[in-house]
Amino acid sequence: MKKNITVIEGDGIGPEVTAQAVKVLDAVAARFGHHFQYRYAIMGACAIDQTGNPLPDATIEACIDSDAILFGAIGHPKYDNDPSAPVRPEQGLLKLRKTLGLYANIRPISAYPSLNHLSPLKAERLQNVDFVIYRELTGGIYFGKKTVNEAKTEASDDCVYTREEIERIAHPAFQHAQKRRKKLTLVDKANVMETSRLWRKVVQDLAPSYPDVTVDFLFVDNAAMQIVLNPAQFDVVLTENMFGDIISDEASVLSGSLGLLPSASIGKGTALFEPIHGSYPQAAGKDIANPLGSILSAAMLLDYFGMQEEARAVRNAVSWSLDESIVTQDIDPNHYHFTSTVGDIISDRIQNNVPRSVNRKNIIRLASTII
Ligand code: IPM
Ligand code: MG
Repeated sequence: MKKNITVIEGDGIGPEVTAQAVKVLDAVAARFGHHFQYRYAIMGACAIDQTGNPLPDATIEACIDSDAILFGAIGHPKYDNDPSAPVRPEQGLLKLRKTLGLYANIRPISAYPSLNHLSPLKAERLQNVDFVIYRELTGGIYFGKKTVNEAKTEASDDCVYTREEIERIAHPAFQHAQKRRKKLTLVDKANVMETSRLWRKVVQDLAPSYPDVTVDFLFVDNAAMQIVLNPAQFDVVLTENMFGDIISDEASVLSGSLGLLPSASIGKGTALFEPIHGSYPQAAGKDIANPLGSILSAAMLLDYFGMQEEARAVRNAVSWSLDESIVTQDIDPNHYHFTSTVGDIISDRIQNNVPRSVNRKNIIRLASTII
């Protein structure tokens, strides 16, 4: 199969981790006889530096014109502490989501037993943790009217949702639940917010069409607590934009490393795949960031192309690398590999070039004292 992929490396560690995902896609192409063609485009702080615009038109055109987008990370510290910055890197990503109509952000959360010791939770709470968050991505408080008065003493952000916006993400969330453990949890704040009451009403109205799915409702404050107390209770979690942003970061650390988690943003236009982690500027250029979030995002991209066997090959190679401790610093601070080495070995593994049990002496092992 021939596919065009727009690669947006973005800021910070984005280029390094994305390069590993591209290597992995090339390995998949070689093994399964596909042809992936990449077109590189800019977005974020690097795009502001080069063009003054966090999302140049050429990037939008490249995205519209491709079969999928692989994205790295966005953000730079020089903007984080400057509330008066006229343009911000994140505006690029928000505009791209909105322009492409990517209203559903899908974030799978699972715990790897070999990493339980890194999780902030006790191992017994991590058993059977396997859920997926459906976060609404193009509405709510992120995109409502924003105001600030001239004296800059008062500001507002409107939160607006329509029935149609809720239905179009609720349907795929219900359908995904049907293929999983058949449970859907709506996270909202219906005891306080009108928009949340609308979410509840719409989900209640849709529920009879999915009689095999059990639906429950949690207020977001309780949900934040339940994710820590009993994360195994969740199957599919559906929620609005802002709550989804917050609880998905919370849930992402259950696995032991934020660096591991992928996501897919799907909707009307070209779908976008990106790791959940941010640009991690402190690590940029050091070849130490964890590439697994990006590599697993490439696996979600392959699923989206209907290449299930290929996606499985990537996930198997990732699980194998974790079992063999072929990992970056965040996972093993004492014995770790470079970002690029992990990418090389996983790509080799996909092409069956690495024997099942790696001869560890043949792999450059790095002690943390070297760097
Ligand atoms: C995310 C990020 C973005 C968001 C930022 C970078 C605008 O935190 O994808 O979760 O808030 O949606
Ligand atoms: Mg976020």
